[in-house]
Amino acid sequence: MANSHSSIVIAAGLSGVVSAINNGLAITPPMGWNNWNAFGCDVSENLLLSTSQQILSLGLRDLGYNYVVLDDCWQDPRGRDQNGKLQPEASKFPSGLKSISDHLHRQGFKYGMYSSAGEMTCARFAEGSLDHEVDDANSFAEWGVDMLKYDSCYHMGRVGTPTASFNRFKAMSDALKSTGRNILLNLCNWGEDLVHTWGMSISNSWRITGDIYDSFTRPDDLCGCNTLSPGDVNCVAPGTHCSVLFILNKVAPFADRSIPGGWSDLDMLEVGQGGMTDEEYKAHFALWAALKSPLFLGNDLRSVSASALTILNNPAIIALSQDPHGRSVTRVQRDVVGVPKDNWGVGETHVWSGYLHNGDQVVILLNAGDEDMQMSVSLAEIFVAFGPGGSAPHVKSDWALHDLWAHRMSDATAEALLAAKTEGERSRLLKKANWYNATEIPYAQGLANDDPRLFGEKVGVVEAGGVMKVDVKRHAAKVLRLRRVKKEGESFKAKGIAREERHERDEL
Ligand code: GLA
Repeated sequence: MANSHSSIVIAAGLSGVVSAINNGLAITPPMGWNNWNAFGCDVSENLLLSTSQQILSLGLRDLGYNYVVLDDCWQDPRGRDQNGKLQPEASKFPSGLKSISDHLHRQGFKYGMYSSAGEMTCARFAEGSLDHEVDDANSFAEWGVDMLKYDSCYHMGRVGTPTASFNRFKAMSDALKSTGRNILLNLCNWGEDLVHTWGMSISNSWRITGDIYDSFTRPDDLCGCNTLSPGDVNCVAPGTHCSVLFILNKVAPFADRSIPGGWSDLDMLEVGQGGMTDEEYKAHFALWAALKSPLFLGNDLRSVSASALTILNNPAIIALSQDPHGRSVTRVQRDVVGVPKDNWGVGETHVWSGYLHNGDQVVILLNAGDEDMQMSVSLAEIFVAFGPGGSAPHVKSDWALHDLWAHRMSDATAEALLAAKTEGERSRLLKKANWYNATEIPYAQGLANDDPRLFGEKVGVVEAGGVMKVDVKRHAAKVLRLRRVKKEGESFKAKGIAREERHERDEL
């Protein structure tokens, strides 16, 4: 499987990356905002447009958050109109959906909407799109929709084998294609029927668990597989209360399945919702970025705090998500620490490691245990994907460690930004802070230019053959970008090595 992914990427060569669905979308993980986590069914035109204005003026659109997605509950509860067309509830969307998409497009956003591959939506709105795929895809295209989140509730029993689910979702994928409008498709069947083995053929991303909730580690029966059959990719009892740690453990065995154009979706972000500490939110965000999940903000941006904003607007972390190499970190170490509580998933540490396009390596040391601790990992383990047992040539180099949280925006700047009364004032503050703008300098370019805003701060070196030892607070993660230390007179050769590495990695 890894080979077929790699050959796809290699075959694309210089002419751009080809993905399995091959619609040219989501070549890096999509980013944006979705109303569900913060607002549930409380949706309206006003919510979408006041939020898009905030995303724009806080500089978040220019960091890459460019999809604005309306989730469930937008429909007229009476169902379809006389012609069988889906219709929005007029009191929530008085100007109609086309006017919303026009507005968003004028602001430089893309517009996302929601439906379910079932007879009803998950919040039990009257009409899902099952057996109405062509009509509904045409409605989405007419409304100027750029992304469809396609859920799986009330599927009428058409589930239980990969073929049943594949066919049910493929009907919408085909219908969207035949509209002639290029619409990103995000499947939401919570990991059922081994979606990680077929999602990439028909969609740009696929959810792999039940719904996230605003907790870092707390196991909950409503996220069924927590207690039933931990770590088993076949365990599906999706539920609604999945913690960050649960989702990480679920994706770990198939983190490598994401490819440019098709990504495992770890669900929308909880950063800023209030249930986790600052360190927990930093870890959640960095892991979602490095695991190449779509990055959809899930908080109320009209009342965002300085601490949440300065997590979400860290360009050095976002650059991990948008790295041109387009592969997830994988887990190279997992330990159960202390006395694990009676539920699986509490009291553990992870090390995640992954190759980046320019030859750097990202390493995330996660301490999900209850005590601060010193974690250690050897270069041999960090580079195990290039050869086990220390055989990777990388182990012979010294590596500089860059802390990617070092240049987090200051609270004072964030507070001034949030308090600013006009768009002009906000834009001046962002300029003064020299904040990254990916609309002006795409991440690929910024990375190629060694833009210091994407590389954090050098905090140490691990010598060849060595072991990295790092203090990590409880419920926190250290996010390090490892940069090869060039030996004197080696600069040209080092670039050559980076190219070879890319090739080697692609051929794994
Ligand atoms: C399901 C999805 C959620 C959200 C709700 C809406 O639970 O997994 O992300 O879309 O439906 O009802």
